[in-house]
Amino acid sequence: MTDRSKEIALEARNAAGEKLFSPSVARNRDAIKNAFLELMPQRGAILEIGGGTGEHATHIAAALPGVRWRTGDPDPASRSSIAAWIASAGLENLSGPHAIDVSQSVWGVENDAPFDGIVSINMIHIAPIAAAEGLFAGASRLLRPGGKLFLYGPFSRNGIHTAPSNQAFDASLKSRDARWGVRDLEQDLAPLAQKSALECEAIVEMPANNLSVVFRKS
Ligand SMILES: C[S@@+](CC[C@H](N)C(=O)[O-])C[C@H]1O[C@@H](n2cnc3c(N)ncnc32)[C@H](O)[C@@H]1O
Repeated sequence: MTDRSKEIALEARNAAGEKLFSPSVARNRDAIKNAFLELMPQRGAILEIGGGTGEHATHIAAALPGVRWRTGDPDPASRSSIAAWIASAGLENLSGPHAIDVSQSVWGVENDAPFDGIVSINMIHIAPIAAAEGLFAGASRLLRPGGKLFLYGPFSRNGIHTAPSNQAFDASLKSRDARWGVRDLEQDLAPLAQKSALECEAIVEMPANNLSVVFRKS
């Protein structure tokens, strides 16, 4: 039987009860939090997609009491972890888990829209391109004008990998699932953004050859 948790996380997660701990989150959570603080709204409603263990949500929501952060994941084990992190964090501004699969045309949070921000960390390369398509379409439907979509992960630029490690990672992703792969900012995402009335506002270099990318809804 396939080990679904490995397919989702691409790394062994540690566990304490229902709470999962991701080694990569321990390495990148401060850099991502700082980028988020610099680039995204400090108040209002934020919807996180593909929240994984729930650690990023807990970490960023604790630093931003002015936002209402809602997180979730289509994966049940991730949702259990998110629920446990939310329960132990005791943060009034953190809620979830939702079960949004962005490749679906209805997300179930339409009545709570518009959102001030949508965030997805390390998701679109570990999913078929339909996830990126659905994410941009959803951002177009559910963000307020001026609202922002924040993405973090490895990206190629104009068809070229930005580092040998990203090229190797791309090959490894494709060997696990041919539909996965590092997405290209100009060739894959720019057309989706254009179709969704989203404009690329910021591209910030992050440690380990990753980027934080922000799109603004017009
Ligand atoms: C590599 S994990 C990253 C988790 C977390 N954001 C982090 O950085 O630790 C990718 C997550 O995206 C979720 N995911 C995959 N396809 C998705 C989809 N179509 N819609 C929403 N989430 C999805 C997976 O369930 C998984 O939890």
